[in-house]
Amino acid sequence: MSQEHVVAVNPIFARPGEAVAVERYRMPIGEMLPETAYRIVHDEMMLDGNARQNLATFVGTWMDDHAARLYAESVDKNMIDKDEYPHTATVEDRCWKMLAELWNAPDPQHTIGTSTIGSSEACMLAGLAFKRRWQHARRAAGKPTDRPNLVMSSAVQVVWEKFCNYWDVEARLVPISEEHRTLDGHDLAAYVDENTIGVVAIMGVTYTGDYEPVGEIARALDKIQRDTGSDVPIHVDGASGAMIAPFLHSDLEWDFRLERVHSINTSGHKYGLVYPGLGWVVWRSADLLPEDLIFRVSYLGGVTPSLALNFSRPGAQVLLQYYQFLRLGRSGYHAVQKSSQDVAHRLAAGIDAMDAFELWSDGSDIPVFAWRLKAGHTENWNLYDLSDRLRMKGWQVPAYPMPDNLADVTVQRIVVRNGLGMDLARDLLDDIDEEVTFLDRLTGPMPTEGRAPGFHH
Ligand SMILES: Cc1ncc(COP(=O)(O)O)c(C=O)c1O
Repeated sequence: MSQEHVVAVNPIFARPGEAVAVERYRMPIGEMLPETAYRIVHDEMMLDGNARQNLATFVGTWMDDHAARLYAESVDKNMIDKDEYPHTATVEDRCWKMLAELWNAPDPQHTIGTSTIGSSEACMLAGLAFKRRWQHARRAAGKPTDRPNLVMSSAVQVVWEKFCNYWDVEARLVPISEEHRTLDGHDLAAYVDENTIGVVAIMGVTYTGDYEPVGEIARALDKIQRDTGSDVPIHVDGASGAMIAPFLHSDLEWDFRLERVHSINTSGHKYGLVYPGLGWVVWRSADLLPEDLIFRVSYLGGVTPSLALNFSRPGAQVLLQYYQFLRLGRSGYHAVQKSSQDVAHRLAAGIDAMDAFELWSDGSDIPVFAWRLKAGHTENWNLYDLSDRLRMKGWQVPAYPMPDNLADVTVQRIVVRNGLGMDLARDLLDDIDEEVTFLDRLTGPMPTEGRAPGFHH
């Protein structure tokens, strides 16, 4: 069989009579010793990148030893199986109630929320709640329900485009520009109408780390309501920022303190500091989630209320979230997020000091920042070239075009997560400096053919 269809087994592990190669795309006919199978899988994992040097992802890559122990103890729990694991279900409720309080819900103990597999599922549920509420109100008023739309920035994460595509909602994207770098309420009346099911405000724009000014968006919607009667709610996509703002920007009004904010999501597996996959969504009050979206399924002798797209999913991450909430508390989360922000500031200042670059953001919102090449700095290289050069040293620092109307602007971004400390940051700055020096010495342009779009937000 040709080499490309087999995985070779290291002869040290192949026992007499055992295969020395396994097929790559077909299930083997016979068994294999666990040590051998383990070694094959273990060795294949080695080809993945080094998580600590992956500055592209927002998702947690490290937890402490006690978390690792809990993870191993709870890895078999199925979150949907609330009848068999009632206590894990109780812990889930405690967690979203803590989040409801953290996000200043008026009555955190009596609102409603759930864990999800990530922010994407959480956003889908929040979007569905908007759509269903709007449909109920329209039907009650004898009006058509066939043309719902959702208003948001062109810089939304791809999940919102998926939501609109999958659930037949028109995506009304407000383009960003140099003057309006985020959705800031400007010109909102041109996008909102009686068919608008809601507006999405992002706390921590994926492309740049900027917060969208939720208060200003709310005030623009107040004016629209005064002028037209349309009462349009806000969902805050706080995938990253909803676990940063409560600790680093406690005076900022972005959450349920604003009445127009009906729901908020976050990724437990981002700045919630848990391994993938965990998300959360919480509503301001229980009445904002239409009852007819909640399924009461009869399961294993009990009745399980289910608000989810998935059925089975791991319960361990919920327990890990609870562990982090207990272990860190508000002051611990503040300390962890502040140290990430300090590193982001240090890195941003170092990059700003280099002649080649101009900062887009500096990590003052979430500990994420982006920069671009200064106009006129060079014709010989671009940020994709720098990204490639840094990859040779193990660093993953993506470059990508901004969304409409700034698609001709390329930025590069660093996500600072717990685990990227000042020492690593210094090494990274040295490496960036060295690679920029190399690129600046080029006597002609870097070849550009064949570059594949390699980054997905
Ligand atoms: C603003 C925003 N929303 C939603 C998501 C999707 O989150 P998840 O990966 O938890 O599904 C992301 C992920 O980066 C994000 O940045």
